[in-house]
Amino acid sequence: MIFAANFKTNHTRSSTKAYFDTLSQKIAAKKSGDKVYVFPPATALDHYEGDFTLGAQNAYPAQKGAFTGEIGLEQLEEFSVKTLLIGHSERRELLGESQEKVAEKFDFFKAQGFEIIYCIGEPLEVRQEGDAAVNAYLLAQFEGIDTGYENLIVAYEPIWAIGTGRSATIEEIASTHQALRKAVACPLLYGGSANPDNIREIASIDNVDGVLVGSASLDAEKFASMILS
Ligand code: PGA
Repeated sequence: MIFAANFKTNHTRSSTKAYFDTLSQKIAAKKSGDKVYVFPPATALDHYEGDFTLGAQNAYPAQKGAFTGEIGLEQLEEFSVKTLLIGHSERRELLGESQEKVAEKFDFFKAQGFEIIYCIGEPLEVRQEGDAAVNAYLLAQFEGIDTGYENLIVAYEPIWAIGTGRSATIEEIASTHQALRKAVACPLLYGGSANPDNIREIASIDNVDGVLVGSASLDAEKFASMILS
């Protein structure tokens, strides 16, 4: 299983350091096949020791340059970051990232050999139209994306389940992941209110290879309990 923690705009540099101290200690007992990723805010990127992969939540598709407020490859290389989230719904919806922009980012970081956790997910009104509409919506989010890329992980995150405390049902996750499995061969994560109470059930669903966790990942002990459960 893959366990990925997305801090979003939470934690500082110092609290991230403390987080890693706790997490490293706790996950010493994890199964050797399990992989842990942590995506702190850009200000907390640093060199950390431990059995986890440090990733960035976002970056601009350029080595460096005049892109106010963004970080580029140069800033990631300083901390040997080679893993990136692309296409998260909060960036698509709140920051206005178009599919075209997302695909441009994907191409740039793919050319750099980055491991990419590529996020897709439908809004509630699409989910209410049923499975066929959901699948069509999700497949459209692969437009311009090389789904055969060897360092790709896809995260299915229904927008209405993110940060709401209301995870998708087991049936919804199962049917969506089954449909995605036909489209892509890479590991498939589920994200959207995954937490210590539902992790075992989610992890047992066919075609779920891991979870991308927001709120429940902010506390190192809680996130570790999901990994060890
Ligand atoms: P959540 O966020 O776990 O708080 O729902 C998941 C995500 O956005 O990656």
